[in-house]
Amino acid sequence: MNVHIVYAHPSTDGFTYQVLQSFIAGLDAAGHTYSVSDLYAKGFNPELGPAEYARESNYRADDPIPADVAAEQQLLAAADVWAFIYPVWWTDCPAKLKGWFDRVWTVGFAYAPQTVQPVRRALVICTAGHTAEHLRETGCYQAMETTMLVDRLHDRAQQKEFVLLGGSEALEGEEREAMRARHLDRVRCLAAEL
Ligand SMILES: Cc1cc2nc3c(=O)[nH]c(=O)nc-3n(C[C@H](O)[C@H](O)[C@H](O)COP(=O)(O)O)c2cc1C
Repeated sequence: MNVHIVYAHPSTDGFTYQVLQSFIAGLDAAGHTYSVSDLYAKGFNPELGPAEYARESNYRADDPIPADVAAEQQLLAAADVWAFIYPVWWTDCPAKLKGWFDRVWTVGFAYAPQTVQPVRRALVICTAGHTAEHLRETGCYQAMETTMLVDRLHDRAQQKEFVLLGGSEALEGEEREAMRARHLDRVRCLAAEL
């Protein structure tokens, strides 16, 4: 399988970077090929500009698209699997990734008409401060899952999965490390079993 990873975190010091590394280790172990769009590292511009806004809001699929958007779309179109890896910030992805959807999910690629072939599988893997259980109780988990799987991925993927790795921040010392190790194992297995 060829996997394209869209990664959004500004730092290599955090847990989300370890999640990325574990996912890649799992891909390597299983012999999958992969590409990574590291949105902060490449300085991806998340702002939909006036010309892009005019193109999208008027459904002008024949209008040109910016080179950076075209490059993202080519990576997506070449993949069998997409993986989105990011931290939960205010019950959503970082603004940089939200802007990536604003700009990369263009008319004539993602919809109206959709020309990108549905990928076999899409994985949304996010880290969170709260536990998945707590986020389910508040309804935030369901809101994020719906936004990512039902709206943003929709029928652009044949199989979709939302994986939330939460709760380790409230722990300390060995307990925190043990929970993070379990999360990282889960991610490695997910990648290896694609
Ligand atoms: C700006 C900001 C907003 C956050 N909002 C949430 C939130 O809404 N829900 C949640 O569970 N955790 C939230 N967190 C906690 C992060 O999800 C958590 O710190 C992150 O997943 C840990 O990964 P990292 O070490 O790679 O940053 C937030 C953190 C930041 C910095």
